[in-house]
Amino acid sequence: MAKRTSKASKSSKGGARKPVYVLNGPNLNLLGQREPEIYGSTTLADIEKLVAARAKALGLSVICLQSNHEGELVSWIQEARSMASGVIINAAAYSHTSIAIHDALAMLDIPAVEVHISNVYKREEFRHYSYVSSVVKGVICGLGVQGYALALEAILADISK
Ligand code: DQA
Repeated sequence: MAKRTSKASKSSKGGARKPVYVLNGPNLNLLGQREPEIYGSTTLADIEKLVAARAKALGLSVICLQSNHEGELVSWIQEARSMASGVIINAAAYSHTSIAIHDALAMLDIPAVEVHISNVYKREEFRHYSYVSSVVKGVICGLGVQGYALALEAILADISK
């Protein structure tokens, strides 16, 4: 069962701002143990702490969710339509396979940013195509876990317009 953590924040107009959903896909629960030569030693819990701290500094709040199941990720993207001000998504291997995640993201009218910890373009060819990229605002890839913090800044810039 995914754990949810959230804190309210205010929009520039003074109203309550909805949280940014930070969605992580399959096998990212094993970050820290999983292929550390590619993904480093940072755990998912460390990433969630980093993202929450960066969000707080930017006046945002986050809800961090991880699933190994495609349908659960689809349901959270659908939920984000009414519950979130933006979405950060590392769909992991589903990035390269999931039309269902593509279709769910295509229905969002809030900004979404795709993150990959590793530079997928330096890796196997099957990682070079992402079904996510064409339905998000932008892609951050290969900058390690810092990519999540950069994605938050991009979402803040977009929703502050
Ligand atoms: C990943 C890259 C994907 O190709 C891979 O399947 C992952 C992680 C990344 O963050 O670098 O699980 O999304």
